[in-house]
Amino acid sequence: MAVKDLNKIFPKEDSLLTKPRPYVNHSVEFKHPYSVKKRMEVLEKSGMNVFNFPAEMITGVDFLSDSGTTTMTNKQWASLHLGDESYGSNKGYFQLKKQVQKIFGKEFFNDPNKQKPNAFIFHQGRSCENALFSIIGRLGTGLIIPSNGHFDTTEANIMANKIQALNLFSKQLKDPLSNYHFKGDMDVDKLKDLLKKSHKKIPMGFLTITNNTGGGQPVSMNNVQQVSALMHKYDLPLFFDACRFSENAWFIKKYDKNYRNKSIKEIVKKMFTYVDGFTISFKKDGLVNMGGGLFIKEDGYFQKKYPQIADQIINLQILTEGHPTYGGMSGRDIMALVEGLKTVVELQYLDYRINQVKTFCKSLVDKGIPVLTPPGGHAVYLDMNKFFEDTDKKPGDFGGIAFTALLLGLYGHRACELGNFAFGTYNSKTKKETFPEVNFVRFAIPRLRYEQQDLEAAAESIKVLYDYRKQIPSVKAIYGKELSLRHFKAKFKFK
Ligand SMILES: Cc1ncc(COP(=O)(O)O)c(C=O)c1O
Repeated sequence: MAVKDLNKIFPKEDSLLTKPRPYVNHSVEFKHPYSVKKRMEVLEKSGMNVFNFPAEMITGVDFLSDSGTTTMTNKQWASLHLGDESYGSNKGYFQLKKQVQKIFGKEFFNDPNKQKPNAFIFHQGRSCENALFSIIGRLGTGLIIPSNGHFDTTEANIMANKIQALNLFSKQLKDPLSNYHFKGDMDVDKLKDLLKKSHKKIPMGFLTITNNTGGGQPVSMNNVQQVSALMHKYDLPLFFDACRFSENAWFIKKYDKNYRNKSIKEIVKKMFTYVDGFTISFKKDGLVNMGGGLFIKEDGYFQKKYPQIADQIINLQILTEGHPTYGGMSGRDIMALVEGLKTVVELQYLDYRINQVKTFCKSLVDKGIPVLTPPGGHAVYLDMNKFFEDTDKKPGDFGGIAFTALLLGLYGHRACELGNFAFGTYNSKTKKETFPEVNFVRFAIPRLRYEQQDLEAAAESIKVLYDYRKQIPSVKAIYGKELSLRHFKAKFKFK
């Protein structure tokens, strides 16, 4: 019998229930087995703020962020050695230009010798936001920037420049029974009303793909088209906060029948035809540990409306980051980024990445734990209002903070409260707390870093705390509750 005929007898490889990872470990790091006693001691000394807990002591999964926590591929590590640290026009700059043009479109990276510069490298996402909004803030007073969900640093940078950061979350995001796959969409009806009433106050709009603040949920191609058309009707530019652009494209391929047969690269290109620019932290879908960029479309609505802004950005870039051909990045990091951008749009990579998040979410759902479903591409969000629903916990008891502290101290996994404490505020005058619409603990999954066994161990620990939820003590902030971005700085104690 011919070898190829055997294929017809046995089940196909694709039909097997469990598939191997699409990569092997290139290098590993052993963890020191710190005891629970030691972790609890250090946690108390860190003021129970998980950001202050030494990462070295995390014996489980570090879910604090998927940002800059990527394990790089061996090609990326090799490319570091090819880094060119010349002060001007290093080798990596030209390779990055080619790669950005290839992925997002030629119009996002001009040749500075022939056209006006429109591509600006920064060391991370928030420095792009700072540059952009500090310039936009000079355009007038009472400005509003609408979004499907501004990320916390984006919102902080907008507000620091006296602009209102307005979130127009989709209706489906707030509906726990909805199975809609694109809960990260912007509420188009609300945008219509806003534009009708206040378009003169709106310098630009934003779509965060995927919507990190809105449960990490993806944005549909339809929504991108509709929001773009609405903004353009008023001659207003639309930007992406494009940190997770390829994960967003994967969801469009998977759940929008019009794009099922398109490649990720084709979908990404299409998405970016609707926007006039984007900011990006390459620490996510650049697959690197540091890097960011701000790109303005040649002849787009932004460039036409604000022709002077590119020059102002270069000035800021030179003042705060470096020469425009390296921005805030070292030559070697640019080389690793070029390589990361090649991997991140590969279907094989994305299938594994997003299915890992999905499997973790399913394991929690199967254990009866209340999470936001369906999950997005980079994180699983635990709904803390539901988690404590049948207990006597009140919003001001900050159950999410207590939960993350216990998960870290007792079981060695670090997650992040993004709810009543992180997004709530305390008014020192009235002595009142206000609470946000959503109350989550986020489990962000670093790229290419953990194996299924690690995530299952975390799911089991979460289940134990869920079973013991009535015994989880309340927490009070002993420092910093009145501060802005207080979750990074506050200290806590169990009541
Ligand atoms: C959607 C989004 N925008 C912006 C940022 C800011 O990027 P960076 O951490 O590189 O400053 C982040 C970081 O997590 C993010 O998730």
